[in-house]
Amino acid sequence: MIGRLNHVAIVVPDLAAASSTYQMILGANISAPQNLPDHGVTVVFVNLPNTKIELLHPLGPDSPVAKFLEKNPSGGMHHICYEVEDIIVARDKLVQSGARVLGTGEPRIGAHGKPVLFLHPKDFCGTLIEIEQV
Ligand code: CO
Repeated sequence: MIGRLNHVAIVVPDLAAASSTYQMILGANISAPQNLPDHGVTVVFVNLPNTKIELLHPLGPDSPVAKFLEKNPSGGMHHICYEVEDIIVARDKLVQSGARVLGTGEPRIGAHGKPVLFLHPKDFCGTLIEIEQV
């Protein structure tokens, strides 16, 4: 059911420092920071030849990544995103298999303008999984 790895998201305490690390030390191609108020994050996209890394930093008081940063002050891997062809078909199959879909269970528009859903980490080897319809 899942296809390509779309991105790995890393929460960082300092977006400028993280951008500089990826650009200057790792030699990666990065985007300008983008504020995504609907998601409570500011994001920098690191464009790799075969996938993307998203550097996430909390935006606003209700950011879903603020708690993560409290628990992991140096930052850390937050989620991985797999591509699916049809997010509703994928969701229904996952729910039938007993997997827990977070939130309302209805897809939201993600950072790339495509519908996404998040799956409970306890059902997937301790990893928060995002699925994105491409
Ligand atoms: Co993501």
